Order: sequence, then structure tokens, then C-alpha cells
Amino acid sequence: MSQILVDEAGKKFLLRAGNGAYGIGVNAMNKLCSLHWGAFVERVEDLPDCSEVEYYQGRHTRRAAMDFQEYPAWGGEFYNEPALKVNFGRGVRTSILDYKSYSTGACDGGEELVITLGDYAYPLTVNLHYLVYPDSPVMVRWVDVINDGEDLVILESVQSACFHPPRRSNEYRLSHLTGRWAGECMIRRQAVTQGKIVLENRTGLSSSFEHPYFALDEGGACEAEGRVWFGTLLYNGNWKIAVECNAYEQTCVTGGISDFDFSWPLKAGESFTAPKFIFAMSEAGFGGASRMLHDFQRSHIAPEVEVRRVMPVLFNSWSSMEINVNEEKILESAQKAADIGAELFVIDDGWQSALGDWRVDKVKFPNGLKPVVEKLKTLGVDLGLWVEVESFEVKSELYQNHPEWAMNFPGREPYRHYRADVDRTSLLLNFARNDVAQYMLETLRSLVAQTGIKYLKLDMNYYFTDPGWGEVDELEQRTIWVKYARNVYGVFQELKKEFPDLLIENCAAGGGRGDLLMDGVFGRINRSDNQDTLDVLRFHEGFTWLHPSKMAGGACHISDSIRGMNKRVTPLQMQAFAGIMGSLSVGKDLLSCPQETLEEIREYISLYKRLRSVAHEGDLYRLASLSDTPYTAFEFVLKDKSEALLFAFSHGIEFCYKVPNFKVGGLDAGGVYDIECYGDDERKLPGYLKAEKEIKPLSGRALAEIGLSVRLSGDYDCKIVHFKKRS
Ligand code: DGJ
Repeated sequence: MSQILVDEAGKKFLLRAGNGAYGIGVNAMNKLCSLHWGAFVERVEDLPDCSEVEYYQGRHTRRAAMDFQEYPAWGGEFYNEPALKVNFGRGVRTSILDYKSYSTGACDGGEELVITLGDYAYPLTVNLHYLVYPDSPVMVRWVDVINDGEDLVILESVQSACFHPPRRSNEYRLSHLTGRWAGECMIRRQAVTQGKIVLENRTGLSSSFEHPYFALDEGGACEAEGRVWFGTLLYNGNWKIAVECNAYEQTCVTGGISDFDFSWPLKAGESFTAPKFIFAMSEAGFGGASRMLHDFQRSHIAPEVEVRRVMPVLFNSWSSMEINVNEEKILESAQKAADIGAELFVIDDGWQSALGDWRVDKVKFPNGLKPVVEKLKTLGVDLGLWVEVESFEVKSELYQNHPEWAMNFPGREPYRHYRADVDRTSLLLNFARNDVAQYMLETLRSLVAQTGIKYLKLDMNYYFTDPGWGEVDELEQRTIWVKYARNVYGVFQELKKEFPDLLIENCAAGGGRGDLLMDGVFGRINRSDNQDTLDVLRFHEGFTWLHPSKMAGGACHISDSIRGMNKRVTPLQMQAFAGIMGSLSVGKDLLSCPQETLEEIREYISLYKRLRSVAHEGDLYRLASLSDTPYTAFEFVLKDKSEALLFAFSHGIEFCYKVPNFKVGGLDAGGVYDIECYGDDERKLPGYLKAEKEIKPLSGRALAEIGLSVRLSGDYDCKIVHFKKRS
């Protein structure tokens, strides 16, 4: 049975995906109007008529009809956030879009509905694309805008979509994910009262201050229950999501590329495609919403090789050496890293001659990287390197040869970014230029081929300061934001095509580019440079609202907190247990670690290797949060319910408080599970992983209903519980 139903006579369209449905129709004014976004509806005939949706006692119906437009352009009686703003020249700055036609067909393994709108007086076509997959409740929207005329048209805003959750008497609650260095992915909530809340990023990166994500609920949804309407943009540059509640209790979410300093000249016959917006409604709270996104990420965004990848344990040089790497230290550390069980050795910042000159620093590595490559080969450990390809240093040959490649406003000195921690002055490259992007692609291509690296860490440590592009026509200059973002993604997409097994880390001074588009190429994300375990546990909640847990990387889960972040020292075991939920990395100074510490780390690494497939492939349930309770817990259940893991951590438990039983859901109710618990109660050494006591086998039903008592006390306590179904 088709997922897209069309009522030709009533001009209505129904998209059905999983337990969700989305309805649109053409109203009496020939405008495309939103009819339903919510739970499953079987028949297209059951959708309301546009007139019913638009009616409001005493309100001017024509104006109300404009408010429910599925893709409203600015023009006529429309006063809310527009999805499209077009300048046709000759003084015409409005656009009036009418419904023209529709088509359906197969697309990318799913079914697609394309609705064509057109301006009644000017030759402009807008195609609204809707894509539904047979295996997912998540739907996809995007638009193409086409100039069908002879004259140039200037696009001033092209949003990807506009969504209308159901009208309700009480306000919605908006949940979103803010960001900043060392404070990534924080969950924030606020009421949506009459007015407009604008979430956006204008730094040139997608998540330096805010993630391109929204979630609306009726105020009471929690992790496990309640309806949540949510969506996220697949875009790695400047974006905007406006959440607006009008005077008639109608909330509308409009989002896409930021219209700030945006302008796109569309010549005759040209088209502009806006980024994809994926969206769905969960009836199982925020937990349900993130499980939907994780499944969608695995089946429709991430490359297959990344979905299947067993995430290696890596050692990264940054937190112990910073830029002071050299052949001797690296060779010695490589040996130690192999001894503790690391599978990948990443030389972070400092190996290179200069930003821009992506060859080895001959002073630090007088024999090149060859001795390192050879040593790692004998140890059976793969090599990874760090790059920051969007900048070049003033001292680099690249800058000497191509100063014009710096992003700049003519007549102004381009901003010279000085980073004190690495004593480095650099400028941003204008990646919107195809010659710059091509040059970097070739540089990376030969770096990967010549060194045989299996891992590449992309970093980006600056925000745009001079988004100028004096070399192109005045009309083209503001395309820089979008062309830059497209080229960055394009270069790595191409590199991944050429080296499909190369694992690429998405790092931008921590998690500054943490959008889901990037997951289409990058297999690991630097969730944050902040490795204070208590902060990590909070980040992990917001991070997993978007990305699967296995993507949670970074330089050093097990490390001495970089630059004494929060001046907190957390136990090694807690660092390791938190790291095991993601893609585990070690950043400790292995050369100065006592043997006992190295042995302890080795035990955690071997535990990671035993458990990683469950944490990485399992469905995630967030059972408790440090924001609400002095403990937090994450549960992972394999799809076939044969195994599960429960990670529990405490902080600030007082008065000998006993943590309530954890209700371990998602298991096979009729199955009986053997249970093993890791975590040393007394934290005595050695015997780091000593089980606290034997736990009797329990049925999945009992684990969900009665729950499991896990002993946690005081601060920094942690446990991992492993459930294995008896056959
Ligand atoms: C910022 C990153 O987030 C760090 O992990 C590290 O790679 C430094 N840059 C290197 O300069």
C-alpha cells in the first residue's frame, strides 16, 4: 500500500510514515495549506477541509487562509515569518505562490511527492519535495526554486520548510540544543507564547551557539512519554529556525538557511535547492524521538561503512602533548598505547609544518612520518592525523603564494586570528572559492594516500570574521556563506568516496559543527573538548537527541582534564565508563603514567572491546538525568533484545539516599536475562572491574516492571550492568 495518498477531487495529500501522518490540501484561494501533522491517519478523505482549518470566529478568513500556507512566500496579506522572499527587480519584492500541480514517484528507496507552486504573475516555480520511506516514521522535506524567466531574480530568503503542529489552547513548550566551546548540546526549554523565538547560527558553522533542531511538546512530555513534534536541518552552515505563535494560537516553525546577509542571484533557467529538513512526531517522548532519529541516521544518512564500523579505541596526543609532539615522544607513546590496547593512534595538532602547508614539520619529525608509520605497523595500530584545512597561517607558503585566498572585504585588513595556546596567527581561507576547495581536496587526497592514515580529524577553530568576496560580482558576494558550507561538505564527501574506509572525525573546536548532514560523511564527532566526566554525562543527553551514541568521540575520554576544566578530578573508572557509551579515546600522558594506572586503563579498554557492540548498535533509553536527580542512567538494548547494557553514575547523593530501582525497558518480556555488574564498590585497587555482588537472573518483564536495584552512593560512583538473554 502506498504511503502517499492523493484525493484528486478534494486536492488533498496524505503522507503516512510509521505511526505518523502529514496532510496538506489546496484551499479556495488556490494556496497550499497545512491540514495535519500528527499521529497516523489512514484515509486521505479523513483530512479536514482547508475551510475548517482556516475558520476562526470573527476573523478575516482570507487572512487566516494565508497563515496556514504550507510554504508561504512574503507577499499579500501574509505577516508571519516567510519561507520565501524574492526580488524580481523592477521594484517587485513580493511573490504570490499558487498551487499548480503535483507528481509522485520513487526516490532514494522511498516515495516522493512533489508539489509545484508558481507565482501567478512572474516566471518563478517552487517545487516542494516530500519524501517518505517504508522503514521510518521520519519524513523529509526540501524545496527547489527555479527561475523560468529571462530576467535575473534575487532570492532573499529560501527556507526549507514551514511546519504547523496542531492548534491548541495552551502554549507549546519548545526544547532546543544550545552550544558553545566546552558547553555543547545543552538542552534548553521555554514556553512558546504569542511572538517569535528565533534559533539560529551566524558564525558560518552550524552549531557553535545553537543546533539546527527543534522539539515541541504540550508541556508534559518526558523521556518515555508524551507527544513530541521535532525536526532537524541537514545543513552545516548558517541556518535559522523561527518558532512563532500568532494571535490565533497557531504555532508555526519555519526553518532553513539563515536569511541574514543571504542573497542568491538566480539567472534564467537556474535553480536553487534548499537543505533537507527531516521531521517526525514521537508518541514516546524525547526518548522515542531520538530513537527515531538514530534509526533514520543509520538507514538514510550515514555511509554503510560507518554504520557497520566497530569503533576503535584511540589514543590522541592533544590533551597530553598539545602541539609539542615530536618523533621521540610519539614513538614512545605509540608503544604504550599499543600495550594498553589502543587500536588507533592519532597525532593531533602540531605535526604539520603550518596550517595551509600540510606536510610534516621537519624539526619535530626529522625523518618524516616514516618511522612512526613503520613502528605503528609493527604494533598493529593504525595511524590518524589532524588537519584544519579552512585556515592558513601567515607564515605558511600557501599564504605567501595565495594571499588572495583569504576571506576578505576589499579595503579591509582581513582579521588575523591569534591563538595564544598554540602561538599561531592565521586567516580563514575562502572555501567558497572552487579553486581553494579543489586545492584542499588534492592536498588531502595525497596526504591520505602517502601516509596510509586510517583516520583523519578535521578541525576548525574560528568563526567567520570577514565573509567578503571582493573578486566576484557584487550580486554574487553574499552567496559566500552557502557556497562555503557546500564546498566544505563536498570536499569531504569526495574524499570519503575515494577512501571509503577512512574514518573522518567531525571536530570544530569541539562540537561546533554538530549537524546531521555531517554524519553523511563523518563517522565520529568531537562532542566536546570538555572532558570533565560530570559535564560529559550532561552533554551526552543532548548529543544523543541528535546523534547515535557511538559517534560520541573527542580526543580524550580518559585523560587529565584539559587545562583543569572546572578544576574537577574524576576517577579513572568514571571517565572510562562514560567513554564506553561512545567511541572510547585515551588522552592521558602515557609516558608519565605509573604502571598501575596503565594496567587499570588496559582493563577498561578490554571491557570496552567486549561491550562496544551493544552500546553502539543498541536502542538508547535515557533513564535518568543529572539535571533532575543526583544520578544519571543510560540503557542500550540490541534490536534483537538478546543483550542490553545499563550505565549508571552518581553525583551528590546525600543522607545515604537509596537510588530507586531502574526500570530496564525494551527487553524481551518473556526472556530470562543473566546479569553481570561492573564497578568497584569500594574503589579499591587492583580489581578495578570487580562485580559488586552476584545478581540473580531476572525476566525482561520483571526488569521493566519491578526494575533493578543498582547501588550508587555519594559522588562519582558508577556501574555498568550487562544483561544477556538465556537461550
Ligand atoms: C580544538 C579541538 O577541539 C581539539 O580537540 C584539538 O584538536 C585542538 N583544536 C587542536 O588545535
